[in-house]
Amino acid sequence: MCGIVGYIGHREASDVIIKGLKRLEYRGYDSAGIAISNGELQISKGKGKVAILEASLLATPIKGTLGIGHTRWATHGEPNDVNAHPHTGNTRKFAIVHNGIIENYDVLKKELQKNGCTFIGETDTEVLAHLIEEVQRVSKADFETSVQIALKQVVGTYGLAIVNHDEPDKLIIARKGSPLLLGIGDGETFVASDASPIIEYTNKVVYLDDDEMAVITRNGYEVKTIRNVKITKEIHELEMSIEQIEKGGYPHFMLKEINEQVDTISDCMRGRLQVKANDIKLGGIEPVLDKLVNARRILIAACGTSWHSGLVGEYLFEYLAKMPVEVEYASEFRYREPLIDDKDVLIVLSQSGETADTLAALREAKERGATVIGICNVVGSTIARETDAGVYIHAGPEIGVASTKAFTAQVTVLTMMAMKLGKMRGVLSEEKFHELAVALSEIPGKVKEILQQAEKVEEIAKMFTYAPNFLYLGRSYNFPVALEGALKLKEISYIHAEGYPAAEMKHGPIALIDEHMPVVVLAVTNHVNEKMISNIEEVRARKGRILSVTNERNTDVIRLSEFAITIPETHDCLTPLLTVIPLQLLSYYIAVNRKCHVDQPRNLAKSVTVE
Ligand code: M6R
Repeated sequence: MCGIVGYIGHREASDVIIKGLKRLEYRGYDSAGIAISNGELQISKGKGKVAILEASLLATPIKGTLGIGHTRWATHGEPNDVNAHPHTGNTRKFAIVHNGIIENYDVLKKELQKNGCTFIGETDTEVLAHLIEEVQRVSKADFETSVQIALKQVVGTYGLAIVNHDEPDKLIIARKGSPLLLGIGDGETFVASDASPIIEYTNKVVYLDDDEMAVITRNGYEVKTIRNVKITKEIHELEMSIEQIEKGGYPHFMLKEINEQVDTISDCMRGRLQVKANDIKLGGIEPVLDKLVNARRILIAACGTSWHSGLVGEYLFEYLAKMPVEVEYASEFRYREPLIDDKDVLIVLSQSGETADTLAALREAKERGATVIGICNVVGSTIARETDAGVYIHAGPEIGVASTKAFTAQVTVLTMMAMKLGKMRGVLSEEKFHELAVALSEIPGKVKEILQQAEKVEEIAKMFTYAPNFLYLGRSYNFPVALEGALKLKEISYIHAEGYPAAEMKHGPIALIDEHMPVVVLAVTNHVNEKMISNIEEVRARKGRILSVTNERNTDVIRLSEFAITIPETHDCLTPLLTVIPLQLLSYYIAVNRKCHVDQPRNLAKSVTVE
């Protein structure tokens, strides 16, 4: 959560920072601010989106070539002008922007108050600003030593950038638990929470690791630990392009990303799914394949949409590889005593690769001796770097807060992994493998066919725009898709929605059904079709409104539905890759009709880097 941008070089820092903050707004957008060091330390900040900050800077520009900026997702203290970053201490000598949570902020604050510090807001970050100032006042240490001493007292997580009134040519950043990277330009250095603000200037980046800081001047940068041990960092080359992070003519990133799925699923399979050779190559997990094949069981930990794809993974691994699987909420995994050891393999799924709970689950499992495999989208992300092995989903930057193309790419990777394991374990015959490989290779074309029905989904969305509640029902592989459909709708349209295994409906949710309740049913021609039809009848008997996602030859379902969206047929275990597409479109159009902020829904952030 929260986005940080910093700049030192020859350009107007505020231009670079505002542009960068806009690219990072998916990380938080309840307030924004900037500090420019130009002999003076000038700060402009306030409640609202980056555009409001931009307008105020247009009216009252702050010139200078060194600065830091922040777009906030509130943790401590409501979103208002005072709690917006940057924060300063009483003398306004240092200005600081921060992403993360200072867990011992209350203890530190009381101590600082005893020493005469006066606080004006409620954020944990303000405590840090005072702390650095106080450390320097007492110790008379230089800028970086003061930052180091202060950070050693901090319990919690941070990605932070600090400027100092007395050293106008220096910028210090530090990381523990919240991502930060440096962009290395020609005579200029960029800082950001992810690569998107940097890519238009340079493709050379340095990822900071936990407990590291960088001291950046006009002559370059130096990375060291907060215990002052110098480190030589590798410079990585970014593969992303500027086009990938722009809307490309679409009104919203979410719609662009839904439409990109034809390509992203293909990209994810490219070079990996080898239909002719009847094989799958997943280079990133080759070093741990033996471990995986012989694992006692597979655990999957993730959050949100990634957890839903993990649930699809459970069905896939059990069916195709005959391996026992448990899927865990990453946030719960860590706080119980998970029975996991070196005979187990944990797969963590994360689009961003930065989700704090998923990262914590990864570390917990590693500590207990398990092999950990990551399935991530963001190259070089913390999770990708900390796992023993991994597979990138190659979906390209996903900017809409509602995850869409990451879900289908994650499910594609899980399908390939399950097929590979099934084959290696001798439980998936060559014939069956081939049949599935062909079916998987045909998925992008089928996604394209579904996307051609977008207008029909848009029309249906009009009928349900003001429904206060929705129920989503599915069975087998499509139960997780029902959960995903409900999550998509609630997060961007603020309509209460629940996903349920269809058979569970009669154990409670059926009480909700009346003539006002839209019920989205995922009913494809498979072994549970007859059971789904019975569930549809149960809803109809209570006058619920049926909207089905089904196949053309499923005529009974179509007949029983008020609206039916048909999808092409595929192998049962691949249907989640298709059934989810109309649900993404439905939530998108309903949110647009309700005039919701589709790409930046209220209270949410794309990358949840706090626990
Ligand atoms: O980056 P991750 O995949 O780890 O993110 C997990 C969730 O925060 C994420 O899927 C969230 O639920 C999305 N907003 C869902 O659309």
